Amino acid sequence: MNLISSITELRAQIASWRQAKQRIALVPTMGNLHDGHISLVQHALTVADRVVVSIFVNPLQFGPTEDYQAYPRTLTEDNAKLQAAKTDLVFTPTVAEMYPTPMEQSTRVEVPNLNNILCGASRPGHFIGVATIVNKLFNLVQPDKAVFGEKDFQQLLIIKRMVADLNLPIDLIGQPTYREPDGLAMSSRNRYLTTEQRQLAPRLFQILDQLRRYLLTTGQRNFTELEDHAKAQLTASGFKPDYITVRVADTLALPTDHDNAQELVILAAAWLGKARLIDNVRIRF
Ligand code: PAF
Repeated sequence: MNLISSITELRAQIASWRQAKQRIALVPTMGNLHDGHISLVQHALTVADRVVVSIFVNPLQFGPTEDYQAYPRTLTEDNAKLQAAKTDLVFTPTVAEMYPTPMEQSTRVEVPNLNNILCGASRPGHFIGVATIVNKLFNLVQPDKAVFGEKDFQQLLIIKRMVADLNLPIDLIGQPTYREPDGLAMSSRNRYLTTEQRQLAPRLFQILDQLRRYLLTTGQRNFTELEDHAKAQLTASGFKPDYITVRVADTLALPTDHDNAQELVILAAAWLGKARLIDNVRIRF
């Protein structure tokens, strides 16, 4: 496995693979890898000849009061997992390598509308940071395919829109959320949970799934009332809910009361102690 942190070396390796007509897949990460990340790598291996994993805790996507400094950095363990998963190249640039111009002054990528709702409303600038870094990684690696987890549903939609709007020749692949046996979506931030909070955490998925089944079986479409009820359930379970909302899966628009034609998604974000957990479930009628 090739460990590279300089852009020059990365470009040289990519150029030689391109010359050999090999297909490249990219899995962008911020490290602290869990089985969910490894499942993305495993999928990438099935669709390309070479798999690149980037590990970069991107300061541009963290707000001033967020956990940029505290975000878990576990490079040695990450590399061992990626080696075992047969990754070809791990790209671990420094902040200076990725942002040669001071970050506040450097060019950004913004996907309007989608970037300031839901998680974007609570985390101003977050999705500009995500779109900017993912676009830079796409320019550096020039992958044929890029694989993302569907847990970050809004992120995936924003990247899809960016790829379409900027005519990037990349096939984006979303992979189902990887869950612990009790249903909790795997996330690097789960390690912020205390033992007691960890026991409560699966309630988030249970409440989402309960609402999904209720919508499917009853035909009820009073979304606001159902969302309020789910929010109250989260609060009663010890969470501080940010949002829980039913949206059209393709656009994140509010669904109409009678809309059965489109796929819906229920998205939620809620704080449990120091951890801001997000999750979602899809509804196909
Ligand atoms: O999902 C993540 O880990 C990050 O937001 C990403 C896509 C690697 C960009 O920094």
